[in-house]
Amino acid sequence: MQSLTFAAATVATGSGVSQDLQDWTDRITTLAYLVAALLFILALAGLSRQQSAARGNYFGIAGMAIALVATVFKAAVQSHADPDHYNDAWVTVLLVAVAMLIGAVIGVARARRVEMTGMPELIAMLHCFVGLAAVLIGVNSFIHAGSSAEAGYEKFHLGEVYLGIFIGAVTFTGSIIAYLKLSGKMKGAPLALPGRNLLNLAIIVITLVGMVFFILTGTEEADSKPVAWTILGVMLVLALALGLHLVAAIGGGDMPVVVSMLNSYSGWAAAAAGFMLANPLLIITGALVGSSGAYLSFIMCKAMNRSFISVILGGFGSETTAGGDDHDYGAHTEITPEETADLLRHAHKVMITPGYGMAVAQAQYPVAELVRKLRADGVDVSFGIHPVAGRLPGHMNVLLAEAKVPYDIVHEMDEINDDFGDVDVVLVIGANDTVNPIAEEPGSPIAGMPVLKVWNAHHVIVFKRSMGAGYAGVQNPLFFMDNTDMLLGDAKQSVEKITAAL
Ligand code: TAP
Repeated sequence: MQSLTFAAATVATGSGVSQDLQDWTDRITTLAYLVAALLFILALAGLSRQQSAARGNYFGIAGMAIALVATVFKAAVQSHADPDHYNDAWVTVLLVAVAMLIGAVIGVARARRVEMTGMPELIAMLHCFVGLAAVLIGVNSFIHAGSSAEAGYEKFHLGEVYLGIFIGAVTFTGSIIAYLKLSGKMKGAPLALPGRNLLNLAIIVITLVGMVFFILTGTEEADSKPVAWTILGVMLVLALALGLHLVAAIGGGDMPVVVSMLNSYSGWAAAAAGFMLANPLLIITGALVGSSGAYLSFIMCKAMNRSFISVILGGFGSETTAGGDDHDYGAHTEITPEETADLLRHAHKVMITPGYGMAVAQAQYPVAELVRKLRADGVDVSFGIHPVAGRLPGHMNVLLAEAKVPYDIVHEMDEINDDFGDVDVVLVIGANDTVNPIAEEPGSPIAGMPVLKVWNAHHVIVFKRSMGAGYAGVQNPLFFMDNTDMLLGDAKQSVEKITAAL
């Protein structure tokens, strides 16, 4: 959706207008935009439930196809109807087609190669394109206004341009930092500059004051135009710095909220571009992405026990300490796959809590096979899913659905978190931060984040390759508890060995 929004924004800049054909074309395009907008709403509705997610995706694809065809069609018809600019306009349409082709080839190649575990950084990268598009459209819009013969360039539009560039620039650099952090190319620890909240506030105040002066000086008069360009340049640099700082200041464990927040920002950036281009569909699409991203951020904040407002201001990482926890928790005990099989054979109730490691190991298929076998033997097996397990919202649900695990045995954290006391064996498959009891200790780097209380079960078996920390870089005392055994090794191989032993 992000990349297509970017493409639509770029396509919508096509020029060349003739009044005769314009009305007719406008009507058809408006109708097509209306259908596309409805399809986008149906897409979002479909994507809100696993069972209807694939259908939702098809609605989205259909909506975007209609939107792109309608926009290019409009540009083509308009150029045809404008004899003065006939050649220029067709060159524009041709360039748009070539750009779309190149973009489509890169997009398809990238999408085919990307692993499920690499999705969050890919999404961050796509957000960054939407931000960049908003900045470029804003600058173009202002240049165009300068060379236009129109008298009295609307002040309202200047405000749109200014805000569009600001949101786009924050989204652009914020998404680059998110990409670097999520792909492990940059350390996940929060950047804690002294007085960082004041710094953010100062940038926002300067930006708002700058907006007033920009609107006053950005009009047609040649005298004040350079002043407006200077204000725009200063704001652009500040907004780029703000995006960088907002995301760099967020610690590793809180990155899920940042991803959904940038998703929302990219939507608002697209909506701002829609205002600048007077393209209603871009406004609607941007608003849908912006508000659904904001709602997702809100849900994630609730799940992570974080304040929504402080997330928007990039401030919630400040309370945590950077780095890990080197407390000595004593010795851990290990278990073999055969011993695990024996435990499972005698269990009545088994709970599986998967995490990022299951995705890395691609262990969902052997896990599904193990579940089928246990259930066939009369064991009550279910899954407990933490809202930020893995690296993107719904990551575990997607993997389990892919492996055909029945939906009715997959439960959200809130539904089962009080039931662990009745569970005989919990299999923690590649999860770490999401089952870390240290989150319940005030002052710990992940303090306050709700976690799956697996330690309340009779027996906990943790599948991972080493005693290393999880994504947030915090040591996990669960591994050293009396009722916990470590099953060290690749999760896929370990699960296959258990099934074989059963
Ligand atoms: P993590 O805390 O990321 O831990 C995953 C564990 O899997 C690691 O400790 C790793 O240990 C193990 N592992 C990796 N490869 C494995 C393999 N092949 N076989 C067995 N184990 C393997 O996982 P989590 O509990 O799912 O928590 C998710 C974390 O990511 C949270 O901190 C969350 O905030 C963050 N995050 C989430 C999202 C979203 S939206 N879900 C987005 C960004 C960040 P070894 O290396 O020792 O094997």
